[in-house]
Amino acid sequence: MASMDDSCSALAPSKLDLAARAYPSDLHHRDCKQSLNDDIEAWLICFISSLNLRYSSHSKPPHDATLLVVEQRLRRPVSPHLSIYRPQITWVPSMLTRITGVALSGGLYLYSTAYLLSPVTGWDIGSESLVAAFSSLPPSAQIAVKFGIALPLVFHGFNGVRILVWDTGRLFTNRQVNWGGWMVVGTSGIFALLLALWKSDDEV
Ligand code: HEM
Repeated sequence: MASMDDSCSALAPSKLDLAARAYPSDLHHRDCKQSLNDDIEAWLICFISSLNLRYSSHSKPPHDATLLVVEQRLRRPVSPHLSIYRPQITWVPSMLTRITGVALSGGLYLYSTAYLLSPVTGWDIGSESLVAAFSSLPPSAQIAVKFGIALPLVFHGFNGVRILVWDTGRLFTNRQVNWGGWMVVGTSGIFALLLALWKSDDEV
């Protein structure tokens, strides 16, 4: 492994350079300052890489230009993405449809897998036990649990239908997309609440 001295010294600004750039002509003052900063940064990156490489199995020389480029890329600012957009009724429901689709399927997969494994794990998660556990909750908690499950399901279903209608080329003007978005939000909320409050004849 090359030591820091042989590998990075080529990048370190010489004393002569430093002295020359410490007293630049007015004309080149800014350029020299920038180029000195660049040299010092390159040397620092090289020095840090050489420290890391002491513990690495790679024997790549730390002054390798590719390595420097990779190190510099790691320090680049990350461009903003979703956070720069104002939340709008045109795109938020589409995003929520994907999130609710993944959450619903994830829950289904998790429960199904746990149910299949229950003879091995000994977990009592059959429908009878779930009903018994649910009945033991206070009414307000029952409504909250039902609403929490109904809302993503109803919203995903309603907006899913809207997305399928878009695929036929209908309801796709800006006005219709705005109006349809609010319709889905409103009807999903109302429908989920009705489902949460609804009691079958068997329930007391
Ligand atoms: C009325 C019932 C439903 C309708 C009409 C419907 C419709 C749709 C549509 C149109 C999409 C595509 C969305 C897009 O292009 O971005 C979608 C995605 C998806 N749906 Fe459904 N869906 C329904 C119910 C369900 C249920 C019950 C589940 C799971 C338990 C589910 C899971 C998913 C998943 C995982 C995706 C993919 C999400 C993604 O990554 O984009 N859907 N659904």
